[in-house]
Amino acid sequence: MSEQDIFPVPEEWAKRAHADKAEYELQYGRSLADPGSFWLEQARTLDWIKRPEISGDWSFDASDFHINWFTDGQLNVSANCIDRHLETRGDAVAIIWEPDDPSEDSRSFTYKQLHEQVCRFANVLKDQGVRRGDRVTIYLPMVPEAAFALLACARIGAVHSVVFGGFSPEALAGRITDCDSTHVITADEGRRGGKTVALKANVDKAAQHTTSLKKVITVRVTGGDVDMTEGRDVWYHEAAETVEADCPPEPMGAEDPLFILYTSGSTGKPKGVLHTSGGYLLWASLTHKYVFDYNPGEIYWCAADIGWVTGHSYIVYGPLANGATTLMFEGVPNWPTPSRIWEVADRHKVEILYTAPTALRALMREGDDYVTRTSRASIRLLGTVGEPINPEAWRWYYNIVGEQRCPIVDTWWQTETGAAMIAPLPGATDLKPGSATKPFFGVEPQIVDGEGEILHGATEGNLCITRSWPGQMRTVYGDHKRFFDTYFTTFPGRYFTGDGCRRDEDGYYWITGRVDDVINVSGHRMGTAEVESALVLHKDVSEAAVVGMPHDVKGQGIYAYVTLNANTEPSEALRKELLDWVRTEIGPIARPDAIQFTPALPKTRSGKIMRRILRKIAEGDVSSLGDTSTLAEPAVVDELVANRVG
Ligand code: WT7
Repeated sequence: MSEQDIFPVPEEWAKRAHADKAEYELQYGRSLADPGSFWLEQARTLDWIKRPEISGDWSFDASDFHINWFTDGQLNVSANCIDRHLETRGDAVAIIWEPDDPSEDSRSFTYKQLHEQVCRFANVLKDQGVRRGDRVTIYLPMVPEAAFALLACARIGAVHSVVFGGFSPEALAGRITDCDSTHVITADEGRRGGKTVALKANVDKAAQHTTSLKKVITVRVTGGDVDMTEGRDVWYHEAAETVEADCPPEPMGAEDPLFILYTSGSTGKPKGVLHTSGGYLLWASLTHKYVFDYNPGEIYWCAADIGWVTGHSYIVYGPLANGATTLMFEGVPNWPTPSRIWEVADRHKVEILYTAPTALRALMREGDDYVTRTSRASIRLLGTVGEPINPEAWRWYYNIVGEQRCPIVDTWWQTETGAAMIAPLPGATDLKPGSATKPFFGVEPQIVDGEGEILHGATEGNLCITRSWPGQMRTVYGDHKRFFDTYFTTFPGRYFTGDGCRRDEDGYYWITGRVDDVINVSGHRMGTAEVESALVLHKDVSEAAVVGMPHDVKGQGIYAYVTLNANTEPSEALRKELLDWVRTEIGPIARPDAIQFTPALPKTRSGKIMRRILRKIAEGDVSSLGDTSTLAEPAVVDELVANRVG
C-alpha cells in the first residue's frame, strides 16, 4: 500500500455534511484555542435540567490530579435519549430490532414506545429495590430489553455494568463482586448464530461466588427451562405487569456515574472503567453526529454488541441522544450465510453501517458473491472500529461493499475514551486506507518516544493525548490510584493510550497496535496477564506466558507458552483440556489459538520473563531475536524456536 493513495472528499459530501474542510479546521482550531467556551457551547446540544457554567476542570499532574466536566450542570441521560424527542419525533422509530433467525419477524419501537418500555423497566428496578447510585449488572443478549435496561438504570440514577454474554460465570462473578453489584438483569437464554447460550444458568453459577447479589431479574427470550430461586429471582415480564407506565427521570449531576464497563489491562484483573453522565453523553452524541454525519430520520446500524463500549456509545447513547433510528442485531455476520449483514442492511434500508475489521476479513474470505448478490443501495456511509484495518480489508469494504460510493470512517478510540477520538469527518477529511486520519474536536494527540520526548512532524512512537476531553473515563471503579498509575505515570502529565502510532507528513495518524501487554483479538481486548492467571490455576500448570501472534481473521491470536509441573508429560489431551479450561475460566474469546509446551521460559537473571523474545517467536520472526545475552539460560530460546507451534 502506498501512502499516495488518497480518496478525496466527494463534492456532494462536502456540501451535505455537518462539516466540510473549512468548518472542521475552524472548529478544531477553536476547540484547542478556547476549550472553555467551545465546550460550553457544544454542551448546549444536550437537554439540561440545569445548564452548566463550568466547562472542563482538570489536571493530569500528580499533585493536583482531577478530571471534571460541566460539574455544576444537571441532566438525566435517559431523558436526553428519549423524552426530549417525544414532542417532535414521538412516532419516529427509535429502535429497529432484527432477530438472530431471519425467518422470524423484526420489531421496532417508536420514541413513544421506547419511553413506555424504559419507564416500566425503571419502575421494575425500583420495585426490586434498586436505588440511585446502586450498581446493576446487565448480562443480556442483544434483545431490545438490553437497551431498555441501560436507559432504565440511567433514568433512576443507577450505575449499570454490562458484562458481555460471552463471558463465563467466573468472569461474571468477578465483575459483580468488584463493584458490589446488588442486582443482575439477565435472560433465560441468549441466541446467536442459531445456538443458545444459557445465560440464567451462568448467573446461577456466578451467584455461588458472590455475596453482594440480592436479586436476579430475568427476561424471557427463548422460553427455555431455567431454575428460579425463591426470594432472589423474578421474571421481568411478571414484574412489569404491576408497574406504572411512567417514571419521572431523576435529576443527576453531570459528574454522577453513568456506567462501569470492565476492560482488560496489561496487568491484573479487568479494570472497571467508569464514565459519568454529562461529558460522556456529549462526547457520544457529538461524535455520532459528525463522524457518521447523522441526520434524524436516517437508518443507522452499529453491528456491535451492547456488551462492549461500542454498543454503549454507538447503539444506544450517541444515536438516541441524536434522535436517531438505531438498529439492534441479535445475530452474527456469518449465519445462516455470509450474506447476513448485507441482507439485514437491505431489509431495513440501512444508510450508515458501522462494523469491525475482523468481521470484514472473515466475510472477505467467503468470496464477493455473498455481497454482490445483495443490493446495498441504501448504504451511503461505512464505518470501522476495534483494531487497525489492513488496507486490503479497507479496499474490499470500499470497492465491493460500498461500490466506491461510500466514504469509510475508520474510528480510533478505546473503552477509556468514551467515544471516537481520531476519525475522519466524511465531508471534511480525505481518506487514506488504514489511517484513522485526524483528531476530533478538542483532541490533541502527541507522539512520544520511550523516554517521553515529544516527537514532531512525520514520526512514530507512543500515542498520548495531552488534554482532557468530555468523554474521558473518570476513574477505575474503586481504585482511583490504579487509574492514575495506569494512564498518567508512563509519560507524566499526559494520558497514555497504550497504542503505538505513526504520523505522516500530512498529519494523518496511523495506529500501529498496542505497545503494552494487551492483545487485540477480533477487536476485543484481552490482557495477557488474565489468560496467564487462568492457565496457572490448572493443577498441571506450573508457569505460563501469553503473547499475541498474527492471525488472518482475528487480527491477533493468543499464543500461550506453558510449563507443566514435574511428572506431568505434555499431551494432545492436556492441550485440549487447557484450551477448554481457559474458555471456562474467562470465556470463548480468551481461548488460546496456540499452546506451546516448554520445559522452561526465557528469563533474565533476576527472574523476569523476556516477553520480547516470546513475542518474536510467536510471530515466527526468529531471525531477529535481539539481545539474548541477559538470559539466565540462553539454551531455552533454541528449544522454544525448535518447538514453535503453527
Ligand atoms: C483498543 C481499544 C473502540 C471501541 C472498540 C475497542 C484498538 C480501536 C481502532 C482503530 C486501530 C483501534 C486500539 C485501542 N483500536 N479502534 N480504528 N484503529 N486500532 O475498544 O476494547 O477499549 O480497545 O482497540 O488498540 O487501544 P477497546
